[in-house]
Amino acid sequence: MANERSLILFKPDAVQRRLCGELLSRIEKRGLKIVGLKMLQVTKELSAQHYAEHVEKPFYPLLEEFITSGPVVALVVEGPEAISVMRTMMGSTNGRESALGTIRGDFGLSRQMNLIHGSDGPEAAAREIPIYFKAEELIEYETTLAGWVC
Ligand code: TYD
Ligand code: MG
Repeated sequence: MANERSLILFKPDAVQRRLCGELLSRIEKRGLKIVGLKMLQVTKELSAQHYAEHVEKPFYPLLEEFITSGPVVALVVEGPEAISVMRTMMGSTNGRESALGTIRGDFGLSRQMNLIHGSDGPEAAAREIPIYFKAEELIEYETTLAGWVC
């Protein structure tokens, strides 16, 4: 069982809809550890860096417009298989097709405004985390119940 870190964004729609507390609460209750947390405005340059695999796709101009439309909350979460655990909690890309009980399935109907980003694998996490966080912004700490999620 790999102890992993994943880059999570609460997208502008989550901030606008006052859902950040709800999303953070789900992540914490599941047992993942927050090791980095900040609010920031995504610029066009940052969007292109983050979504490098999508910049040439037809949906990218609207994705860029959306992701730069207001502040986001960026987090790094840590825990056993944190990357796939988060992807399962998020649900599928399109809120309309996402299962009830998932973040996207419970709170949205949109494919574009789908509330949350999570790294889709270890390589993506290793690439994305340094885009948003300097090494010294990620906090190493022990939790007193360190074994409760293992
Ligand atoms: P993608 O990496 O395929 O989805 P996910 O966020 O589930 O990993 O796409 C990145 C984002 O681009 C996605 O969250 C929403 C947006 N998007 C669209 O607006 N239209 C589309 O057709 C697709 C595939 C994605
Ligand atoms: Mg993706």
